[in-house]
Amino acid sequence: MVRFCQNINIFGSCVNVHKMRKINISIILKSVALIFLLLLLVGCGNEKESKTYTIGFSQTGINDEWRKAMNQSMEIQAAFYPEIELTILDGEDDIENQISDIEQLIAAKVDILIVSPVKSKPITPIVEKAYKMGIPVLIVDRKIDGENYTAYFGGDNYQVGTNAANYLASLSQDKKKIVEIKGLAGSSPALERSLGFNNVVKNNNHLEVVKTIESNWESYSMKDTLRKVLEDIKDVDYVFVHNDRMAYGAWEVAKEKGLQDAIEFIGVDGLNGPNGGIQLVKDGILTATILYPTGGDEAIRLAMKILNNEKVSKSNILSTTVIDSRNADIMKNQFDKINQHQIDIENQQQKIKKQQETYSTQSNILKVLLGLLITSLLLAAYSIYSANSIRKKKRELELRNKKITIQRNQIKKIAEEVKISNDAKVNFFTGLSHEFKTPITLILSSIESLSENKAIKDNKLLKEVGLIFNNSKRLLRLINQLLDFRKIEDRKFILKASETNLYQFTKGVFKDFEREAQKRSINFTIGTNDEDLKVFIDRNLMDKVYFNLLSNAFKFTPDNGNISVEIVNDHNSNFLKVVFKDSGIGIPKQDLQNVFKVFFQGSNNNQPSSGIGLHLTKEFVELHKGTIEVGSKHGAEFIITLYKGNAHLDPDEIVHEPDMVDSATLNFDGDYEEDAFKEVEKANDGERYSILIIEDNPDLITFLRNKFIGEYEVHCSDGSDGIEKALELIPDVIICDVNLPDKTGFEICEFLKKDLRTSHIPIIMLTALNNKESYIKGLQSGADLFLTKPFSYAILSQSVKTMIYNREKLRYYFINNIHKINSGEGFGLFEQDFISGINKIIDDNLDNSKFSVEHLAEKLNISRVQLYRKIKAILGVSISDYILNVRLEKAKAMLDDSKLTISEIAYATGFSSPNYFSTSFKNKYNLTPKSYRANN
Ligand code: FRU
Repeated sequence: MVRFCQNINIFGSCVNVHKMRKINISIILKSVALIFLLLLLVGCGNEKESKTYTIGFSQTGINDEWRKAMNQSMEIQAAFYPEIELTILDGEDDIENQISDIEQLIAAKVDILIVSPVKSKPITPIVEKAYKMGIPVLIVDRKIDGENYTAYFGGDNYQVGTNAANYLASLSQDKKKIVEIKGLAGSSPALERSLGFNNVVKNNNHLEVVKTIESNWESYSMKDTLRKVLEDIKDVDYVFVHNDRMAYGAWEVAKEKGLQDAIEFIGVDGLNGPNGGIQLVKDGILTATILYPTGGDEAIRLAMKILNNEKVSKSNILSTTVIDSRNADIMKNQFDKINQHQIDIENQQQKIKKQQETYSTQSNILKVLLGLLITSLLLAAYSIYSANSIRKKKRELELRNKKITIQRNQIKKIAEEVKISNDAKVNFFTGLSHEFKTPITLILSSIESLSENKAIKDNKLLKEVGLIFNNSKRLLRLINQLLDFRKIEDRKFILKASETNLYQFTKGVFKDFEREAQKRSINFTIGTNDEDLKVFIDRNLMDKVYFNLLSNAFKFTPDNGNISVEIVNDHNSNFLKVVFKDSGIGIPKQDLQNVFKVFFQGSNNNQPSSGIGLHLTKEFVELHKGTIEVGSKHGAEFIITLYKGNAHLDPDEIVHEPDMVDSATLNFDGDYEEDAFKEVEKANDGERYSILIIEDNPDLITFLRNKFIGEYEVHCSDGSDGIEKALELIPDVIICDVNLPDKTGFEICEFLKKDLRTSHIPIIMLTALNNKESYIKGLQSGADLFLTKPFSYAILSQSVKTMIYNREKLRYYFINNIHKINSGEGFGLFEQDFISGINKIIDDNLDNSKFSVEHLAEKLNISRVQLYRKIKAILGVSISDYILNVRLEKAKAMLDDSKLTISEIAYATGFSSPNYFSTSFKNKYNLTPKSYRANN
């Protein structure tokens, strides 16, 4: 099946669009690295090719010119092949050295071995070894024994010998005596040269080899022997020496003997150069030299052929020639030219090498640049690709962000709506609960009244009335719990702890349950080890705690069971415990840790329960920094642990005013005094105190009016005209609700307390709100008392009485301390400033008999009636009486301190006549001014 591809990646493989996106930086880096590697390999390729072959040459020795020339021509030739590496080892003309040299080359794994043996026989085994190992072997110059080599290359030594002999034979037909000086015995050139020479000599009768001298190719090895031979054989004609070096040595020996001109010397090699055979011929030292070419260049060419697997002859022989005075110059020129050529070639090669190096460097740079270019292109491509995908991703992210933002806003909106709806629901229920409180208060009050009704008693309906009363109380308690729960949730409770005798407190609550205990024959007991133990508790909250725990105990304890409350003062610690124990159904083990959790319903609890009673209990105990534990063994057991003293409480949690009233601390049984619900006949015995009730609930207004009408002058307002009525009536006490339709009770209170005309009036705030903020707000508005619903009429009535009594006390104080008001000692009251102001105006008008109440009211910017009522309320006297009082006080002081006449004093203090002054004075002080002055 043929698979078609839309996208081909950089490696030529098929990838789909989705995968293509995943090409990341690592792939790019890998690609770049690969390209570099390839470039490196390409860059290095040439160098490696020039060192493909290694040629190992075991040279006999390098001390003579012939060998030096041979090595040089090899090196020059090798330089033409950059792919070969030529290694020449110097055997120092020692066969052992040479063997070890060859071993070394074999070990180095040369590609071809070239050997110029010192001697034939001893070198043969090592050469054969290399050959048998598969190394091509090229034998040069001197031969080995046998045929175990690849090829031989060298001069024709036999011809060298024959050339030399033929040359000598051609010199003269006379009989000539020849001394032959041979090369190293055992080396093939020595053998073959001698053989060729002697074979020709044999065929020429006028030639005779009279002496053959052995040597090692060097002069020192034969000089002594030649000396002796020349001494012995006086008429030697020719000396044939196997190389030019020794031929010169032989000439030197002949020269020593003065025979240098008498003997013709023939050498071998024919080297060009200062000490070479050609020069010796030219100098007339040698008659001739037989050319024996080194063939170094040829040898390398042949080696390359072998290495390149070209076919080569096994035996490659170089021909030779005779150089004598006739062609020595030509030969020299030829060789010089060749040398010059070689030098030129060498220079050319150096240049080529340099150029190659430059080329190689440039080529490498080019490759690197190329690599960098490709890399840059790849990176650029990747950058474009990345930029595109980043842009795409960014766009996607932006879109997603937008979506998230929209979703978040929607969620926020929904959450806000939920919160608003939730708050609305909670507020609705809280408001509803508050609204319930007033009617329930009225129901309870009415029931209380009903219970006293004779008709009810006579018709034996009291039991039903009691049932209604108890259930109403229960309803009220549930509503209170609901409101408390909300307050706890909102953390709005503020502890109002006061020092309380715990036993007495417990007994108070105990009494509430005594009747039920009796009815159900429950053994209900209270005990303590310390009846005098005092503790700081918020009586209101602790009452709820007790009530909850005991309600539960009675709920779950069967008839004839046991319920006990035990107060234990641990004298050794700072704690006390209150233990509530019952013999009821108890709490299952698995429920114990959950009973205080909100809305928890016990698994064995089949009775209706809101699930917030014990939760509130725990919260209230913890507000006291106390703990509550629960246990269950033959019934339930709750242990409350509280701190003794008040060190654990914040100062604002401690109530220092023991008379601070909170309606909730009282229960209904004691609240509704018998006479509180009786219709009281309106009494008409003189002036009565007035009360202004500002309340929008008509039932409550009716209730309160009925209660107060017997004792007070009652005025009512539904809130819409509360301020106006207060200003108009200047009542003695104002009872004001908080939740009013127009202005709130706080606002009304604040206004009245700031107005000079009404600032003195005690205000009782009456409301269903029972939280910290409301309480503080009420106090800030200047309210004198803060009662929460369901209020206790008894307490309200008592509070009104107390307020009026307090004002009376203040009045008495004011009226008897007028001088203190003026001297500025201060009562710290708003009224003081008011009275000081009045006093100052009276003072300023003291001698003005026409100064009237109207004048004063005008100056104070209030009406005459308001002034009258204000002064009456503050000082308990009429304003005219007060002015008169001030005048008389001043007059009395003048009678004491001045020498003015009584008439003068009368006019100075504003009396229209001395008589009126005297009468008024006598009325007040029971003495005429005259008698007063006389007595003092
Ligand atoms: C150099 C040499 C030459 C001679 C050749 C024979 O070492 O002695 O002078 O011609 O060896 O192998």
